[in-house]
Amino acid sequence: MKLPTLEYGDLLEHRLGPGRGLDPARLRGDLQERFASALLGFRERRDRGELGFLDLPTDASLARQVVEVADSFAQWFEELVVVGIGGSSLGTRALAEGLLGGHWNELDDEARDHFPRLHFLDNPDPDTTAALLDRLDLRRTLFNVVSKSGGTVETIAQLQIIEERLRAAVGEEAVRGHLLFTTDPERGDLRRLADAMQVPALPVPSNVGGRFSVLSPVGLLAAATVGIEVDRLLAGAAAMADRCLRDELVENPAGILATLLHASDRDMGRSVHVFMPYSDRLRATALWFQQLWAESLGKRPGTGGSLEASSAGVGPTPVAALGAVDQHSLLQLLMDGPDDKVVLFARIRRRRDDLAIPGLHLEAPSFGRVAGHTLGGLLDIELRATREALRRVGRPSLTLELDTLDEESLGATLMLCQIATVLAGELYGVNPLDQPGVELSKTLTAEFLASGSETREGGHPSAVDRAPWTV
Ligand code: PA5
Repeated sequence: MKLPTLEYGDLLEHRLGPGRGLDPARLRGDLQERFASALLGFRERRDRGELGFLDLPTDASLARQVVEVADSFAQWFEELVVVGIGGSSLGTRALAEGLLGGHWNELDDEARDHFPRLHFLDNPDPDTTAALLDRLDLRRTLFNVVSKSGGTVETIAQLQIIEERLRAAVGEEAVRGHLLFTTDPERGDLRRLADAMQVPALPVPSNVGGRFSVLSPVGLLAAATVGIEVDRLLAGAAAMADRCLRDELVENPAGILATLLHASDRDMGRSVHVFMPYSDRLRATALWFQQLWAESLGKRPGTGGSLEASSAGVGPTPVAALGAVDQHSLLQLLMDGPDDKVVLFARIRRRRDDLAIPGLHLEAPSFGRVAGHTLGGLLDIELRATREALRRVGRPSLTLELDTLDEESLGATLMLCQIATVLAGELYGVNPLDQPGVELSKTLTAEFLASGSETREGGHPSAVDRAPWTV
């Protein structure tokens, strides 16, 4: 198995110029020390049983349970809808886009090997929700409702609409046959409803939080139902986890990612971390990473981490981008805007498909320039050129390189990012596993729902606050 590699030369001083990059000597000096301390904190968390995501790749019985449930459903349904938000959706999207591609649902049954089409409902936007529910044949549809807490307002609202539609389509008695819940093994409204309605319900281990749950039943159920090889995904993750527990910083890819991004932020003021894969299939992975990095690290230190103590908020700002599309959008800012960014490129060395660019209209210079190349080759050259352009103006980048994009390499990439996130939490001095900052908005949503202020002025700008031209 070829694991992804992380190339970090373009973040170092000798490549970027004096004062522009990190001094390579620090990798065996103070950065090794910071990393060693973070790894210690990581191990303590693991020993306290807080890092349940680390055990998922070797939990054969949980994986077997998921595959059995998936097999029992896959043959009955033509459509699978994953209903969930945040960590209960983004990882599954990363798996689906990475391993099925973006056009899975447009393939005919044979091309899909008779596996179901796969849809997602996350945002409770009535336009999207109605458009999907109106289009599906509910008699052939399975809804996998995913919520670790079992009480997330968006998911619960959508479930109620789905349940009512199912009643009308298949009759009261058959509703539960179209539902599958993935939730906490013991607690929460969804677990209680599963028991009451006798809906099958897969467990999310209690020490696995939403954004660290992609390799739990949260991501695996949908993956297995559409034919993704779950055991290979887990094998890649397990192999990467081994590598990411090494003591030497320079041999530990998660250590390198966490320590160099943290040092770029705290020592050089580069707090914007742009994840920019040159592959459409990795776009959802970039969005997954954005949530993981933001929700785990944007905190007020002193609430569980070990290295910093201050009441001011810390944390990098992650940005999900896509090459080459964002060369025509973000690149100008990356090159000439504030020097507060590090780009994490991702590249796939051997793509599944490639297309030769025929040499048409060679008399026109722009046509001649691309002739003889392939589209994949063009993307590769653009990545090289962008990285080099950034380097020449002293702007840092790292490159994650996947030999091919398959179950093993994606599982490994997801594990690498999750371990790096916990290490970064230690480096920033925050608890990467909680999200206290989102509670107030949840409480206010509950308050406003109870008071029915959706239709009142509560929280919305009043006429007095509005600019005159909007009145
Ligand atoms: O990472 C997290 O913890 C969050 O993003 C959750 O996944 C998200 O809020 C959804 O929560 P739940 O799975 O409880 O519905």
